[in-house]
Amino acid sequence: MRESYLAARALCRATLSRYTGVDPSRWRFGQGLYGKPTLVAPGNFKSLRFNLTHTDDLVICIVTRAGEVGVDAEKTSQRVEIAPIARHFLSRRQRARLASLPSCERAARFFEQWVLKEAYVKSIGKGLAYAPERVTVEQDDNGEPVAIGRCQFSVYRPSSSHVAAAAVMRGRCVAPVSIRWFVWTTSARPFETIAEAPRGTRRTGSTTLP
Ligand SMILES: CC(C)(COP(=O)(O)OP(=O)(O)OC[C@H]1O[C@@H](n2cnc3c(N)ncnc32)[C@H](O)[C@@H]1OP(=O)(O)O)[C@@H](O)C(=O)NCCC(=O)NCCS
Repeated sequence: MRESYLAARALCRATLSRYTGVDPSRWRFGQGLYGKPTLVAPGNFKSLRFNLTHTDDLVICIVTRAGEVGVDAEKTSQRVEIAPIARHFLSRRQRARLASLPSCERAARFFEQWVLKEAYVKSIGKGLAYAPERVTVEQDDNGEPVAIGRCQFSVYRPSSSHVAAAAVMRGRCVAPVSIRWFVWTTSARPFETIAEAPRGTRRTGSTTLP
């Protein structure tokens, strides 16, 4: 747990610095009303937004200038009683869709819904103060999450036993933004990969953010 906490902080500083050239030790962090970590200094990077998630063996940090952002990851190999949780936080329509899936696909879709909702809740920064059942993130027939207004989503599988989702509230940007993932597993060498960008959008360079 402590290792994961420290890894999250190290990854966060390193990722912010990668894009800005600021020395990792110079970042200072604060907290929003409901505990969402925010950037306090250096002051000239106030438009940067970031969010973190950690589960067993996995830490993810997401950074953007596009607007508020949230990220969540879950271990899909964990044993969960899907039905009671789904009853609590999925809409009737989503539960019906889940039930109609072959049993081998049901758990995967359930975890996707979980991380999508959690990413949304984290993007608005309210944490447990926001009831997850208030938001429904639709997924199309291919499982692609559908934007809610200016909030766009991305689902990513960093390993065969994890699923992650990002929610980006596009503030100033009108066009969809591409999402570049940085994932660090504590059981393996660090690696980097880029999530599939929506068609026609600009990929972020290594030194610029959307
Ligand atoms: C913090 C919270 C937003 C997420 O916690 P979590 O999923 O247990 O843990 P994660 O690893 O994904 O995220 C933790 C990180 O989120 C960040 N965070 C903390 N409060 C936050 C907030 N209000 N908004 C966004 N991010 C927050 C922190 O960086 C934290 O890491 P840290 O403790 O090392 O500083 C918490 O409010 C929560 O547990 N929400 C659950 C809501 C729910 O009921 N979901 C059910 C399924 S939809």
